[in-house]
Amino acid sequence: MSSLIRESVNHMQGYVPGEQPRSADVIKLNTNENPYPPSPMVFEALERMDASVLAKYPDPVCMDLRKQIGRMHDCPPEQVFVGNGSDEVLALCIRAFVERDGTVGFFDPSYSLYPVLARIEDVATKPVPLSADFGWSMPEDYAASLFFLTHPNAPTGMMYARQEMLSFIERFPGVLLLDEAYADFADWNGMAWALRYEHVLVARTLSKSYSLAGIRLGYAVGPEPLISAMYKIKDSYNVSRMTQELALAALCDQAYMRRNVERIKATRSRLDAELRKRGWTVYPSQSNFIWASPVGISAHAVYTALHEQGIFIRYFPGVRTGQCLRISIGTDEHIEALLDAIDALEGG
Ligand SMILES: Cc1ncc(COP(=O)(O)O)c(C=O)c1O
Repeated sequence: MSSLIRESVNHMQGYVPGEQPRSADVIKLNTNENPYPPSPMVFEALERMDASVLAKYPDPVCMDLRKQIGRMHDCPPEQVFVGNGSDEVLALCIRAFVERDGTVGFFDPSYSLYPVLARIEDVATKPVPLSADFGWSMPEDYAASLFFLTHPNAPTGMMYARQEMLSFIERFPGVLLLDEAYADFADWNGMAWALRYEHVLVARTLSKSYSLAGIRLGYAVGPEPLISAMYKIKDSYNVSRMTQELALAALCDQAYMRRNVERIKATRSRLDAELRKRGWTVYPSQSNFIWASPVGISAHAVYTALHEQGIFIRYFPGVRTGQCLRISIGTDEHIEALLDAIDALEGG
């Protein structure tokens, strides 16, 4: 039976997404979703939607969305690719830019989907271990066909120094994709680099800052030749009609997104301070989650105990990640409940 399946698929481990519980009672701080609803303009667009148009295929190249994204980032629509979540953008980058004997790079730890995508395409990976405190550690002579530079990084939430990044970008010989899924929560971003360099793309998503993980919409901005290569190989109708309309409504309400981002950043500061007060090691987050290591109890024990109480956070086993926990920023009430549960653990 297994000989019917490609060898690399037979031997690979699939991506393990964070748990999506059916019960609404769970306090869900495990997949970096936004705790607030999407913009009221998304609700209005949903009400206006006429189901009879669903008999027709959607726009295969998402032109209205690309124009809007182009206005936001000050570039023509030809420099924008729109995909079924930024996960699709990442997968297409490997298919478009990496030969069979090429290599895909990323920091370790970073987004655990990258090695899975490389494995699916049967191309080799060239991970770069981060320093012991999860900082920048790129060797001078590093090369690969494609590098996924997650910024802010996940699961650490951390950023790197601009100058270090820039000198790496300038000497890197392959395609460099800045995965900016969390950029709206950060102090700065690298969008200008995607508009300046021939080999740099930036990927963004509506899953986090726009509260739209459920519609699956991500995009890439960068040089036209790279963008058109991605258009050549994508699925014919990769973004549904409903997703295109709802995403457009959300992107047109930047003020609402910004307000929510500010609320999340305020809660992030609070959680950071409260965990430090309890002696935890907390890494400086520029995203909508916190990466932290408990004191006097193992990360896994905290994860398991909270899970039993219906508070879901993320634990990544492994030598480099197993001492830490990734906690998505929820509402202030979620974080209150989380801290109470942690205190009960340590007190008990
Ligand atoms: C670094 C990073 N990139 C991309 C994604 C995927 O985003 P999307 O929901 O747009 O596929 C995630 C989701 O968690 C992520 O953490």
